[in-house]
Amino acid sequence: MAATGAVSESTSPPERGAVKIYHGENLAVIRELPDAAFTLIYLDPPFNTGRQQSRAVETARSAHAAAEHTPPRDEPAIVRRGFHGREYERLRGDLRTYDDTFDDYWSFLEPRLIEAWRLLADDGTLYVHLDYREVHYAKVMLDALFGRERFLNELIWAYDYGAKTRKRWPTKHDTILVYVKDRSRYWFNSDEVDREPYMAPGLVTAEKAARGKLPTDVWWHTIVPTTGREKTGYPTQKPEGILRRIVQASTRPGDSVLDFFAGSGTTGAVASALGRDAVLVDENPDAVEVMRRRMPHAVVTDESAPDMLARCDSEPSSPRAGA
Ligand SMILES: C[S@@+](CC[C@H](N)C(=O)[O-])C[C@H]1O[C@@H](n2cnc3c(N)ncnc32)[C@H](O)[C@@H]1O
Repeated sequence: MAATGAVSESTSPPERGAVKIYHGENLAVIRELPDAAFTLIYLDPPFNTGRQQSRAVETARSAHAAAEHTPPRDEPAIVRRGFHGREYERLRGDLRTYDDTFDDYWSFLEPRLIEAWRLLADDGTLYVHLDYREVHYAKVMLDALFGRERFLNELIWAYDYGAKTRKRWPTKHDTILVYVKDRSRYWFNSDEVDREPYMAPGLVTAEKAARGKLPTDVWWHTIVPTTGREKTGYPTQKPEGILRRIVQASTRPGDSVLDFFAGSGTTGAVASALGRDAVLVDENPDAVEVMRRRMPHAVVTDESAPDMLARCDSEPSSPRAGA
């Protein structure tokens, strides 16, 4: 059952949330964050477009992370079955023989998703933003990893921009898969979500038309405008409007939000403006520079020193204070 909260009566903007930015390899950084600290985790990993990525190290780390993860005894049985149960291993094996490029990509994602699940609060929600080429395999793997019961939504972000092929239907959408830690406790407040115009306003009352309709799981939304306040110049930047809905629905003011593929920091910028705290991680110095400019109030920590990689393979250290 979804929890719902009261609509905020206040019209003044919320107090800005705190932002921490970590410059570093995300697996090393997030392993040090405390359990269940985040109500919302949004992940927009680089797509598996076939280019070579440094997977040799990642695969070794993935095996290490999988071996390390032991679900607590009091976790419901479904989690134990989901997490690396026989079904998961069977699927993983099937996929490996069917599509080794995806398997390689999954080796990169898997240890990070397992960490994300540990970091997610009991009432928390995980959003995984994927490309049409990966999403179907990823859905099956995520179901097997976390338990199908935890799957909440498939969001389609549809846009209409750029060149269109005439040889097939032009692909103009992304997919965001949504999973909740606990189906009986997750936070979801549709009252806070910005509304959109009715397609046929003449068919509803004037009052309803003025209020607009609640978005469904298909969101028509422009890409980041090529000019204007929002544009940072970071190549894979996502629009604030998409993240705003996610933050509005799945968190309360004062909650903590995590994005460890942060890029230009859209998640943090939106969360902070809505009075939520944010932790952002990216290994690309250009991303960190963009985030610094975008959120001058953020505290930046450099974890990119080479010794972080060594620490990544050693025993987990104590949780980072005040994440
Ligand atoms: C698709 S972009 C995210 C864009 C972001 N949602 C935005 O609105 O700007 C993915 C980001 O993940 C970062 N990244 C990829 N692998 C990483 C890793 N292992 N550790 C930290 N950051 C990583 C890349 O540098 C890139 O900025």
